[in-house]
Amino acid sequence: MSGIERILVVGSGTMGSQIGLVAALAGYDTTVQDISEPMLAKAKAELSARMDTSVAKGRLTVAEAEAALGRLFFSTDLESAAARADFVIEAATERLDVKEQIFARIGQLAPEHAILATNSSTLGSSKVAAATGRADRVCNMHFFNPALVMKCVEVVRHEATSQATVETTLELARRFGKEPVLINREIPGFIANRLMGAVQKEALALAAAGIASKEDIDTTARTALGHPMGPFELMDMVGLDVIDFIAQATYAETGDEADRPDPQVAALVAEGKLGRKSGQGWYSY
Ligand code: 3HC
Repeated sequence: MSGIERILVVGSGTMGSQIGLVAALAGYDTTVQDISEPMLAKAKAELSARMDTSVAKGRLTVAEAEAALGRLFFSTDLESAAARADFVIEAATERLDVKEQIFARIGQLAPEHAILATNSSTLGSSKVAAATGRADRVCNMHFFNPALVMKCVEVVRHEATSQATVETTLELARRFGKEPVLINREIPGFIANRLMGAVQKEALALAAAGIASKEDIDTTARTALGHPMGPFELMDMVGLDVIDFIAQATYAETGDEADRPDPQVAALVAEGKLGRKSGQGWYSY
């Protein structure tokens, strides 16, 4: 795609780091930026290990893996990374104040033509667009966990997002090897989290009522519906804190009783049981 050579990913957590590798694998000169050196070091080590596994499985040659990692840079310096970026994907903490600050700074630092996208699943980009001084070049570009594997990217436009921004973002997602979908209006949960939330809600209600065990509900989702994971397994993979946060953000926006966060999930989070990443959630790991 003409004009896009260098990509900046802000945030090196689970999503940001893998999005960075997706971009590097697609041939883009990519910088993953974070304020935390230890987070960057962890991301670098994890991504190198992923590439080793892909080579061991015969998915990539050693040369391809080395070339991708050679295009992937890790930095705490937002200024110089933003100054050379043609496209920015923000994947930092899901907090509006943090995102507003990041978008205001990137709006000042990035070249005029650069598109600024947020990976947020809960905050529509209209909430940060004004801070950038280029609202027409701002949208959501929402990836799914694990970003290296999942094909979907939700591209969400807000009222001022230009058609050119939408088309460039969809095309970039395709160049990343993804199958993007377009969402024409901001709505809490976009498409995927609304669908996922509906299944989770039903699963939580069935389990809470003692109608079936979480194991049998998960088995049914896999064997009857062909889902790769059951809803409880999926909540554990995404992180129960993330699930709870999405529910809270959705409920705050809709005020709909049907969207009220689930107390069972909140209770697990309060006990520090966050799913796979903490070793315990619905299941033990
Ligand atoms: N990171 C990167 N790659 C991973 C991975 C991870 N965490 N977990 C698995 N993989 C890779 C494996 O390396 C393997 O790669 P290969 O094909 O090159 O060998 C491939 O995925 C398949 O892995 P496995 O054979 O070990 O296991 P599965 O076949 O069970 O696949 C899965 C794992 C891809 C995670 C699959 O179970 C799945 O699709 N689960 C559903 C995931 C899902 O619904 N994600 C969306 C969550 S919602 C979200 O992200 C939105 C946000 O806003 C909350």
